Order: sequence, then C-alpha cells, then structure tokens
Amino acid sequence: MIKVSPSILSADFVNLERDIRRVSDADYLHVDVMDGAFVPNLTIGVPVVQSIRRCTDMFLDVHLMIEKPVRYIESFAKAGADLLSIHLEADHPTRIAQALKVMGECGVKKAVALRPITAAEAVLPYLELGVDLVLVMTVEPGFGGQKFMADQLPKIAAVRRYIEQYRPGCDLEVDGGINAQTARQVIDAGANVLVAGSAVYGADDPAAAIAALRGE
Ligand code: DX5
Ligand code: ZN
Repeated sequence: MIKVSPSILSADFVNLERDIRRVSDADYLHVDVMDGAFVPNLTIGVPVVQSIRRCTDMFLDVHLMIEKPVRYIESFAKAGADLLSIHLEADHPTRIAQALKVMGECGVKKAVALRPITAAEAVLPYLELGVDLVLVMTVEPGFGGQKFMADQLPKIAAVRRYIEQYRPGCDLEVDGGINAQTARQVIDAGANVLVAGSAVYGADDPAAAIAALRGE
C-alpha cells in the first residue's frame, strides 16, 4: 500500500489548521523542521508541532533537518510527533544511534534520512538498530518546490533491497519533487511512502492530488 504524507511546508501558515484539514485523506502529515544550520532555511520548531498536535489526529511524520538532533528528540516526542526522521549527516554516528535510542524510549517511531550525496550503504547499521522508516531525499533538503533528482532512483532501489534483506517491514519514504509522474518512478524503484508539498498544496483539489499520487 502506498502512503502519502503531504508536507505543510507548502501550506499557508496563517491558515495552517484549514490547510491540515484539506489533506485529512492522507496517511501521514509531513512536518519539516529546519534550523538554518543543517540546511540554509528556518521553518518551525517544537511549539508549532505542539499546536498541530492539538488540532489533528493525523500521524505526524516530523522531518528534522537540524544539526545534532539528539538534543531535541525528547522535546519533539513530548510535543506529539509520531515519527522522527534524523539525518545521518547531522552528527557523529554514535550520537545518531543515541538519538534513535531516545526515540525508542519516548515511544516514537524511528527514522533515518539521507541527503542526495549519501550512499545507500550508509543505512545498513541503522537497519540493524531497528529503524521503522528510511527517508531518501530526492532534492537537496531545505526548500519546497524543487526539481526531482532522477539520479536518486538507483539509490532508492538499493535501499529497498537492503530493507528486504535486513529489515522487512521497514518503510521507504521519498521526499522532494514528488508529483503524479515522479511518483510512478519512485514506486517502481521501491518507495512506499511519498512526501509531497507543492504537488498537493499547489493543486486545486488536494484530495484528488493525494489520490493521484497513490495511483488511484
Ligand atoms: C525539503 C522538504 C520537503 C519539501 C518537499 O527539504 O524536506 O518535505 O516540503 O516539497 P516538494 O514536494 O514541493 O518538493
Ligand atoms: Zn521533508
């Protein structure tokens, strides 16, 4: 089953509650947290996640594009995140492992994210640590509305092979430049969770856009 996770980065922040309701057919809600250091952009933090939690029961898929994420895991978990993705490039491997351990203790689902430059093999130790999801970026993280990087397709296929071999059941999410066309390519390569910001919020009918991404 293909799951869709609309990114509120493309929503109207003045009307965030309305824009969350507009995508309530989706499987997850993708929340992009940026610190202006790991990526050259600043977005939202813990208090906004807390407010979102109060206005929806949707599964909150929180993508942390922040340096040294171990510092904030507990805060985002308490704020109501259901899943936290941290970037492998954001800290030393021992502290990435430590952050995943804290997620387990806090009862949130654990995910690791890969920038386009990072090889598929980098996920291997984390599959062993029991991650629930791997996020492969299909743009450079930082901004919505960028062009899909087709050169990430072989990496998606390689990560899918590793998942089947070492951690069947782990989800494979892709993020960046996903629309109804690129969705077909990433699904064929092995992705089963699709993040989409501009393709959903830029559509006249977000519910129809979500259905199109699922291939319905
Ligand atoms: C980019 C973010 C994405 C972004 C995707 O760094 O991680 O989640 O919102 O936006 P689109 O779907 O417009 O590429
Ligand atoms: Zn994202």
